[in-house]
Amino acid sequence: MIKKAFLVLVMMGLVKATFSATPQALLMGYEALSSKASSARGEQFFNAKHGKEWSCASCHENPPNHDTKHIVTGKVIKPLSPNTNPERFVDQAKADKWFKRNCNDVLARECTAQEKADVLAWLMTVK
Ligand code: HEC
Repeated sequence: MIKKAFLVLVMMGLVKATFSATPQALLMGYEALSSKASSARGEQFFNAKHGKEWSCASCHENPPNHDTKHIVTGKVIKPLSPNTNPERFVDQAKADKWFKRNCNDVLARECTAQEKADVLAWLMTVK
């Protein structure tokens, strides 16, 4: 019984190791699908409105290095910068899920790989 539980734990660890990433690895992936990231472009993109009511900063603020509030629900959002929140950008599926959702809210379309690369490159500089 104990042995079985141990095995399950080991397997969960393996699954986690397979699916967890780093901000650097995600950035390289987005750059591979576009071209070299520009953190200056990323900062501008993050703080600008794109024809709709909100910018990324509407919920994540600028700099996104502290707890913020969702502009609609008022729920706390943890810092987006991976420097202040080590749980950011360590899971490709999670990052892509939220990029998709938030980009749709802000731009009425998905973000391009270049836009994701730029934003992530900038977030990695936010202390
Ligand atoms: C209406 C509020 C809102 C806006 C506007 C918004 N976000 Fe978010 N964002 C959230 C919430 C809520 C989460 C998920 C909760 C969490 O992870 O703290 C999130 C999570 C994320 C994540 C997940 C990161 C990770 O790996 O944990 C990324 C990436 C992200 N947002 C990028 C953006 C970008 C880029 C924009 C602008 C295009 C943007 N967000 C605009 C509310 C917002």
